[in-house]
Amino acid sequence: MKVAVLGAAGGIGQALALLLKNHLPAGSDLSLYDIAPVTPGVAADLSHIPTPVKVVGFSGEDPSPALEGADIVLISAGVARKPGMDRADLFNVNAGIVKNLIEKAAAACPQACIGIITNPVNTTVPIAAEVLKKAGVYDKNKLFGITTLDVIRAETFVAEAKGLDVTQVKVPVIGGHSGVTILPLLSQVEGVSFSDEEIEKLTYRIQNAGTEVVEAKAGGGSATLSMGQAACRFALSLVKAMQGEANVVECTYVDGGSEHAQFFAQPVLLGKNGVEKVLPYGAVSAYEQAAMDGMLETLRGDIEKGVEFVNQ
Ligand code: 2OP
Repeated sequence: MKVAVLGAAGGIGQALALLLKNHLPAGSDLSLYDIAPVTPGVAADLSHIPTPVKVVGFSGEDPSPALEGADIVLISAGVARKPGMDRADLFNVNAGIVKNLIEKAAAACPQACIGIITNPVNTTVPIAAEVLKKAGVYDKNKLFGITTLDVIRAETFVAEAKGLDVTQVKVPVIGGHSGVTILPLLSQVEGVSFSDEEIEKLTYRIQNAGTEVVEAKAGGGSATLSMGQAACRFALSLVKAMQGEANVVECTYVDGGSEHAQFFAQPVLLGKNGVEKVLPYGAVSAYEQAAMDGMLETLRGDIEKGVEFVNQ
């Protein structure tokens, strides 16, 4: 398995590369790319860690050398939020970055599974899809918006609130990856019940957890370490499924035939070729249904913006 990380010198990219160097299966290749000249140095640094994962690094304008032969491409390149900014405020810079990287991936590794971390994910994933369509290599089963950070936050906060073993808590999170489009299905958490007030507080905290970190970092960026961990969890699940492990399920933002929007995050069974099957998200409470109804206009608008950006 060859995994390429684009944006590998950034805060998320370095955390993700460190985790992948330590956790990818023996014999894997890890290929790092960033426009920043430090990237071969990041790879040299990681290469001293004694794990059976080979790491190489490339910098400069062209990511192609890092992409040759990649099975999985993870994209974290772009700028991060500062206090007072919404993920959508990143659109102007990050849309162009993602478009350019996907054009290169379409040429260098058209069969690869691609996981997008760069915000605004609700919009950068549709951008990637349109670019891949234009290149004639779009496979909707191989493009993912990585929303795993919402899932791990939900698991952490629910465990804290209810005094549960955090390693055992499972919370599906559906919709998208910003504000009201993040919908944790607390009604599906096994073995606990929540008061209306708890549901409202937890839902709000999960939806705004990214902003919590942006404000705590006070101008120094957004979540990088937890995002690196979340992306690593998603990537390792994808690697396992691509190598034939059965029953690997993650919530992820895909072009999966949702009745709600062209792209929608929900539980997905992963397989050898990416999406094996988009799974139903099951029964939702009245509160969750209202939240779903309330998010759809925003989510569809975010998607439309990405489609227009590529086709304008
Ligand atoms: C977050 O949710 C970085 O979008 C990421 O914090």
